[in-house]
Amino acid sequence: MEKNFFIKTFGCQMNEYDSNRISDLIKKAGYKKTNNLENTNCYILNTCHIREKATEKVYHDIGRLKKKYKNKKKPIVLVTGCVAQAENDEMLKREKYIDAVIGPQSYQNIPKILLDINNKKTVLNFTDFDVIEKFDKLNTLENSNSKTSSFITIQEGCDKFCNFCVVPYTRGSEYSRSLEEIINEAKALILNGAKEIVLLGQNVNAYNYKTKNKNFRLSHLIRELDKIKDLKRIRYTTSHPNDMTEDLINCYKDVKKLMPFLHLPAQSGSNAILKKMNRKYTREKYLSIIKKMREIMPIMEFSSDFIVGYPGETEKDFEDTLDLISKVNFVNSYSFIYNKRPGTPASNLESVDQKLQKKRLIILQSLLEKIQRKKNNKNISRSKKVLVENIMKNENKFFGRTFELTPVVFDAKKEDIGKIIDVEITGCNQNSLFGFKKDLKKEVAA
Ligand code: SAM
Ligand code: SF4
Ligand code: F3S
Repeated sequence: MEKNFFIKTFGCQMNEYDSNRISDLIKKAGYKKTNNLENTNCYILNTCHIREKATEKVYHDIGRLKKKYKNKKKPIVLVTGCVAQAENDEMLKREKYIDAVIGPQSYQNIPKILLDINNKKTVLNFTDFDVIEKFDKLNTLENSNSKTSSFITIQEGCDKFCNFCVVPYTRGSEYSRSLEEIINEAKALILNGAKEIVLLGQNVNAYNYKTKNKNFRLSHLIRELDKIKDLKRIRYTTSHPNDMTEDLINCYKDVKKLMPFLHLPAQSGSNAILKKMNRKYTREKYLSIIKKMREIMPIMEFSSDFIVGYPGETEKDFEDTLDLISKVNFVNSYSFIYNKRPGTPASNLESVDQKLQKKRLIILQSLLEKIQRKKNNKNISRSKKVLVENIMKNENKFFGRTFELTPVVFDAKKEDIGKIIDVEITGCNQNSLFGFKKDLKKEVAA
């Protein structure tokens, strides 16, 4: 009988990348991917621990699965990702339906785990940190992703220990993959049709691959990628302000494929809160990076993450954050109410009143939205360079992104997929732009 697997992904882009790699591993072990949850032999939840809500979703999903399979043979249930790493044994005790928990550094073991479960051997907890073994194994396996815009994880883990964040505990300490294996993976993805590579890391700009003679930083990697002929765009995320080094900023002077857009989480615009968060930079330092980058690349756009209602946040602290937002004019941003995470230093601090947190989030988000809308409106009647990613389901429209990552829905032709084309912008909403390929009418008439 054919064996198949269903995989659901929560959390960040690194989890998305991991899910693709897990899929590659399992396919090699003879399983086929299915989107039909009603009829699967293996159910994988790749989880996120960043906020409590994300964690609870895992238990809800398994509860729903149990109901679906009440009168059927139970599928193998694997929980991977950051909740598996953080809760490991606790998770197995709380939910007996789970067959194994597998942390982010142990995915190379999945085929063996499946075999053992099928042979009724007891295998439950795989949450050791062995990032070298993980990438050694994955490097031998082709990345089968064939998207126009493809991710490559280049760096794992975090040594920064912000006081609110679980990532250093779930992903371990910083590790950088070798330059050679990243370039090889990029070349393989480009052969598969990728035109844009997005380099990923919890602290992507802390990338530092050391050989006997040289330290390779993110700037070296970007310059190597730039040499690959058929690659059109290079991006990287997520960056920490303290790792925005001169060499990296200088790439914006001459690496044409490097998009003039950067996701640079500020978290707060108040020096007092940044200190309490252990972010180790000031608002002045953050603003000076933005200024320097805009001097080098005047069309540079930025996005950010903000945490609202951090313990001890006063009205003045909050106003400083609003002020920073107005000064930078972010093209797009993510914002969250502070969420207490067990085991982090900030979890012992007294919380800001919940109503006040919500009120501040609404104020902050409406300022971000106002700026975003204004920027989107400014693009109407302009022509934007768009990398055409795919044709949209159930619609005769195409999807792509501008250099600043704004989604664009437009009329074009099938052969435009994978090309950078000029799109005339005719309309917009909060998040997206709408338009048509320049000269499309002439092309159709000809
Ligand atoms: N490494 C990135 C950085 O330094 O900005 C952040 C990675 S984290 C996976 C993504 C975002 O989740 C953070 O930028 C932060 O805004 C948010 N986040 C992390 N912990 C949080 C918490 N306890 N409560 C609310 N938001 C949180
Ligand atoms: Fe979390 Fe801070 Fe590390 Fe980002 S830098 S992953 S926010 S600890
Ligand atoms: Fe979540 Fe882990 Fe990513 S906690 S945001 S999946 S690194």
